[in-house]
Amino acid sequence: MSAKRYGNKWECIEQLGEGGQSHIFLVKDFTSGNGEVYVLKRLKNLNRIERFEQEIKAGMELNHLQIAPILDFSLDEKPYFITKRYSGSLLTNLAPLQPLQALEIFIKICDPVAFAHSKGIVHRDLKPDNIILDEKDNPVILDFGICYFTDENNRLTETMEQVGSRFYIAPELEDGRSISITYSVDSYSLGKILYFLLTGKIFARENYDGANDLSALCKNPQLDYISQRILAKSVVNKPDQRISVEALKQEAITIRRLLYEHFYPNKIGSQCRFCGEGVYQPLNLNLDGLQVWNYVQSNATIRSPNDFRLRCEAIACSTCGNIQWFKID
Ligand SMILES: Nc1ncnc2c1ncn2[C@@H]1O[C@H](COP(=O)(O)OP(=O)(O)O)[C@@H](O)[C@H]1O
Ligand SMILES: [Mg+2]
Repeated sequence: MSAKRYGNKWECIEQLGEGGQSHIFLVKDFTSGNGEVYVLKRLKNLNRIERFEQEIKAGMELNHLQIAPILDFSLDEKPYFITKRYSGSLLTNLAPLQPLQALEIFIKICDPVAFAHSKGIVHRDLKPDNIILDEKDNPVILDFGICYFTDENNRLTETMEQVGSRFYIAPELEDGRSISITYSVDSYSLGKILYFLLTGKIFARENYDGANDLSALCKNPQLDYISQRILAKSVVNKPDQRISVEALKQEAITIRRLLYEHFYPNKIGSQCRFCGEGVYQPLNLNLDGLQVWNYVQSNATIRSPNDFRLRCEAIACSTCGNIQWFKID
């Protein structure tokens, strides 16, 4: 029996999964014979065709390396679209992470979301299942299946059904109370995603405060910054108390710097900047066998190591071996 084909070039290799609204297949282009694998997303329920069209439209408008592109589509009796195949983990499988690693990913997630906002598109369904890593470990946003175009008179909300995952959606989207959708619904979900990345848990309460204090929960004072500067400005009930995704990203960049300066000061006994687990210890360097060449580009001569003295001190992490060098004059 021949493999199932879609359109005049796509052949199924295997089913990859099943989302709420779709079947996901790995396919290849049988006309090219190059064996490259793509993902085909096929709509399950034809009643959702309008949303599927929106998803295709968003994917075509949002040209960003961290947003899954639409490479081909069909709206015939079996609607589908083709996108790139990403082979990294879903965010769902990454947590818990060290604060710096979580911030690093968070900053990268904010980028494509802020880009979508700049084009008038709200994702509305940001959650760890809808974000996947690419081959360079950059997070890519999938599934604009329930996105919202701010400049359109959006018919889809008239069905008044709840959209989005109940664990990650903003409270005003619950029960289809989606009268005024603003970009801040994505800020809310991003705050919850950051919490998930840090703890591996789903944020239980709608308001960040006391008992759910992230730093108390994890016994890690580094997380105070994140609680106060990101969660308190995103995972809150009132949309107008949430800051924009671009502002969340800027906060995360600031916090990353503060954490480096305060918690990873690069001294003997401080926590490792790289793995966050080990502590720095003195490293006794034997420089005898080390050749340090000094290139002098202006007259293109190379001096011998003897002309060049580098006095330095080094520390190394007890766990991962990360080395930090300091020049001493
Ligand atoms: N481009 C892709 N590359 C790799 N895996 C994908 C891709 N698109 C979807 N998937 C997998 O399929 C799942 C469902 O896809 P998604 O687009 O979220 O569909 P749904 O709208 O049905 O939720 C994802 O959580 C992911 O595991
Ligand atoms: Mg999904």
